[in-house]
Amino acid sequence: MTTKIDHIVQIGTVPAPEDIYIQVTKGGPYLVHGKPPVQQVIIEKNETGNSGRYAAGKSFESSESMALCRCGHSKHAPFCDGSHLKAPVDLTETASFQPLLAGSKEFDGPTQLLTDNESYCAFSRFCDNGHQVWGEVQMKGEQHERLTEFMVHNCAGGRLLVWDRETQQPIESKETIGIHPIEDPAIGCSGPLMVRGGVRVESADGQSYEIRNRQALCRCGQSSNKPFCDGTHASFKYHDGIA
Ligand code: FES
Repeated sequence: MTTKIDHIVQIGTVPAPEDIYIQVTKGGPYLVHGKPPVQQVIIEKNETGNSGRYAAGKSFESSESMALCRCGHSKHAPFCDGSHLKAPVDLTETASFQPLLAGSKEFDGPTQLLTDNESYCAFSRFCDNGHQVWGEVQMKGEQHERLTEFMVHNCAGGRLLVWDRETQQPIESKETIGIHPIEDPAIGCSGPLMVRGGVRVESADGQSYEIRNRQALCRCGQSSNKPFCDGTHASFKYHDGIA
């Protein structure tokens, strides 16, 4: 008889099928199970010069138990090529297993609420789109609500959630399951693995992190919140070498 383990699922997230999950290995790569699609995305600017959309980049063939680099040194990114064995990178996991909301701040508006856990910032900058999402949520009107939802639903790291003030339920978008190495030409670097669609991430010791619609896994090896991205890749201009 198999025992079903209950995992923490963020409110508003629909978990991916159980056979699709990501295993963090001790000092090594991410082992990805269940063959989710892997496709690079490129952050394209809009007419105001801010992050406007994710354009589709290169597609990679998925295989069962594929290993994706998390040390930032592979010459065959996004896949692992064994470079972590020689790379001087500490890949110890440091992130909390608590739900994101436990460490979130709340911002109140007339029709919407915003929750924000800054530790999960992947620096995709959709939240700062001419206006900042923290200010937008405090304004009234359909235009502001749409802009807030655009900013929140494009946030690579999933640090933000937007809530309907009346129902106290999150306003969520339907996310398609996928793993997306980010390329960010506006700041001249590569970014994390953006993981969409409720994919479970399991730590090297077998404990699962909260299952979320939007998350960003560090692949540069330098985050202080491993396995999640904390935006550090932007400060030292990580390049994955994907042509
Ligand atoms: S990829 Fe963002 S901190 Fe490593």
